[in-house]
Amino acid sequence: MAKFKTLDDLPADLTGEVALVRVDLNLPMKDGSATDVTRVEAVKPTILELAGRGAKVLLLAHFGRPGGQRSSMLSTSMVVGDVEAVLGKEVMFIPEITGPVVVQSVESILRAGDIGLLDNTRFWPGEEGNDPNFAQAIAAHGTLYVNDAFSAAHRAHATTEGLAHFLPAYAGRSMEAELKALDAALGAPQAPVAAVVGGAKVSTKLAVLEHLVGKVQHLIIGGGMANTFLAARGVDVGKSLCEHDLAETVSRIMDEADKAGCTVHLPYDVVVAKEFAANPASLRTCNVHEVALDEMILDLGPQAVEALADVLKTCRTLVWNGPLGAFETEPFDAATVALARTAAALTLEGSLVSVAGGGDTVAALAQAGASDDFTYISTAGGAFLEWMEGRELPGVSALES
Ligand code: 3PG
Repeated sequence: MAKFKTLDDLPADLTGEVALVRVDLNLPMKDGSATDVTRVEAVKPTILELAGRGAKVLLLAHFGRPGGQRSSMLSTSMVVGDVEAVLGKEVMFIPEITGPVVVQSVESILRAGDIGLLDNTRFWPGEEGNDPNFAQAIAAHGTLYVNDAFSAAHRAHATTEGLAHFLPAYAGRSMEAELKALDAALGAPQAPVAAVVGGAKVSTKLAVLEHLVGKVQHLIIGGGMANTFLAARGVDVGKSLCEHDLAETVSRIMDEADKAGCTVHLPYDVVVAKEFAANPASLRTCNVHEVALDEMILDLGPQAVEALADVLKTCRTLVWNGPLGAFETEPFDAATVALARTAAALTLEGSLVSVAGGGDTVAALAQAGASDDFTYISTAGGAFLEWMEGRELPGVSALES
């Protein structure tokens, strides 16, 4: 794994230091408050540790996509209350990112161990443009830079990448844990490695599939993606969600997998219905070759799940992104729930290192009651996918020493 500095590389006493800490506070909101504060919980240890060691902590975060302009609805002031509630500490909102207001707040108002939150980094075009002058102006307010926002590390922005060029840079505790877990999953994993890739469309995960066939021994395809794979093999998938135009691409991926010694697992049986609704009257389970013209595949069948559970029992490492069926609607969550529970049980037994990530995946594993037992669950969406594609993440590279 690439080397990067962590909070352990800083002196124990940070009194007199001003830590600029990049966090991801891009929280899902409803009626003015966050519906999920997992991302705040993830950065809590870093913030409290730095504050506890005497640093003044200045939090930097984006919120939504304001496109370089101020917008009151996208001010980070919207999440101050949620951040305070999770940290159990007061957080001073500073409605700027550079300039005299920030200087005055840092020098005259914040004391050692206090926490401030600057406004949405994306209100300023220099953020997404990764303008070095902008990064330098922000850097002038701090003495060290900590990046604890893995979920924004796929963006080469001023506060995710640029700042590391102007201040001593460290990975926060959440970034550190994330990078270690990801390294254990695909960097230097114990073989055999299985990857579960599910979700609606192959087109959104082509690069992921292409990368994984060369990295893992078992590639388990689920969700609408499995329909596209089945169709490419000549299976009639009826009315199922399917990208028929990708047949050639999928065949090429299967050939590459074959050459690399990676087994691609497609279902033998599937759960189908004539309409997509909870517990529809037309619900049935059948062999993949028996899907009628007016039916759609909505989940993997029980035989497929059993076979996949057997595959996982032979594996040492699992990386999971995407549900196996239309899991938001019952009973099409059954395959995802069952396989997630198998993975969780194998992890608990100590035979499997299991790493999962992506918004839908996190929700699906939570629904299965499996989240606590996975080795690591990443809260990152786009960054997790780019990592699964084998791409370099600028926010991570900038920390490497
Ligand atoms: C996320 O929510 O996945 C991260 O905060 C990144 O947000 P972005 O896709 O707007 O860059």
